[in-house]
Amino acid sequence: ELDRIPHPPRRLPLLGDVLGVDRRTPLQDSVRLARGLGPIFRRKAFGNEFVFVWGARLVADIADESRFAKHVGLGVANLRPVAGDGLFTAYNHEPNWQLAHDVLAPGFSREAMEGYHSMMLAVAGRLTDHWDRELAAGHTVDVPGDMTKLTLETIARTGFGHDFGSFERSRPHPFVTAMVGTLTYAQRLNSVPSPLAPLMLRDATRRNAADIAHLNRTVDDLVRARRESGRGDGDLLDRMLETAHPETGERLSPQNVRRQVITFLVAGHETTSGALSFALHYLSRHPEIAARARAEVDRVWGDTPAPAYDQVAKLRYVRRVLDESLRLWPTAPAFAREARKDTVLGGEHPMRRGAWALVLTPMLHRDPEVWGADAEQFDPDRFDAKAVRGRAPHTFKPFGTGARACIGRQFALHEATLVLGLLLRRYDLRADPGYRLRVTERLTLMPDGLRLRLGRRTAPA
Ligand code: HEM
Repeated sequence: ELDRIPHPPRRLPLLGDVLGVDRRTPLQDSVRLARGLGPIFRRKAFGNEFVFVWGARLVADIADESRFAKHVGLGVANLRPVAGDGLFTAYNHEPNWQLAHDVLAPGFSREAMEGYHSMMLAVAGRLTDHWDRELAAGHTVDVPGDMTKLTLETIARTGFGHDFGSFERSRPHPFVTAMVGTLTYAQRLNSVPSPLAPLMLRDATRRNAADIAHLNRTVDDLVRARRESGRGDGDLLDRMLETAHPETGERLSPQNVRRQVITFLVAGHETTSGALSFALHYLSRHPEIAARARAEVDRVWGDTPAPAYDQVAKLRYVRRVLDESLRLWPTAPAFAREARKDTVLGGEHPMRRGAWALVLTPMLHRDPEVWGADAEQFDPDRFDAKAVRGRAPHTFKPFGTGARACIGRQFALHEATLVLGLLLRRYDLRADPGYRLRVTERLTLMPDGLRLRLGRRTAPA
């Protein structure tokens, strides 16, 4: 069945398609290969064959929930030692997925989001205080570093009533260092033959065990503090600890709570930080787009120091800037789908039950049949209402698809739109003319070494 699927021309015995491959950038290597090999292709590494799909027609088919479902494989499966049957890494059949999904979903309702808004605003205020100081000192700002501080503090505060004190530290919080270590390790596991991993990655494996221990300790402290202090204010942690399933009355076990807290702290900040960073990069490179976005913020927000919840969704153009950034650089750049039964993908490629393929989102988002010959260009107008109506479904998938799509989508979009609005209103963003976009990978994507020079806008507040 695989015979009809193209693969790179020069294959090595045992090693497979490893020529010209950089272990640090597996995703960008796949994107490069995709351009040459077309809408479906395969890569082989150490005896394992992976199928990638990105053509819009095939992706729409693999999004069909009656025939396909999420597959927990590769990078996601490598996170099982730390996140276990937490929401993101659970197998579809694990009972704790449905239980946690039902218990936690109300934590992402509109009412819940309204409740988070003032906390998000307060955390954003710490970012602008920090940036004001950098500006006054004549420094440039470290965009990915500061966006990571912002998004970590936001999820910690809104979800768990916790403060990591990121803005008061000159180095990343040890939790972040441990998390980055674990993500990087999970990605590296894919780049060595699995029987040899214990040998080749011996030191890394030891460090990873220490990282996981650190993550667990941080979370256990956080949970203990909550139990001792009594109830929070109905945040995610309260839900995890107190809420019984509406129908079965079942509760999350202490072990599962630990996994969910880690899952939310990691899934809830790394990708949003990347999305904000790419958006700021493009805004700094396109002053005319930044001016249009800023004019919208001034119009919709006036000079209110604290925009209300409803005023965020009204920033339609700012939101398009974000969507367009997520189109070019979807910061969770792939998701895997498996056949629920024997089926034929796209009417052409037979798949047995359990067979799986990776959807390569950055290429789906650049398919010229959907996005046109200028698909590489940054243009937020691709997301104006008329353009969106004219586009086929399943062509824009930064948050995955189906039952296992991102539970935090509205949370991320609200937070990121709010922060972009605040930053546009307050600063001029000046690109370093010497900077060329480089993207680092640790399962998620991030612009590497991006620094901006700020100018202070005088009006309004
Ligand atoms: C799942 C992307 C923000 C929590 C996913 C998936 C994607 C994704 C692609 C599906 C993965 C798969 O199919 O294997 C993103 C992006 C974000 C973002 C691009 C920001 C721009 C967030 C936030 C939270 C969150 C803010 C939490 C507050 C989760 C969880 C899952 C998930 C728990 C697993 C859901 C399940 O399987 O039931 N995300 N995410 N994400 N995301 Fe997000």
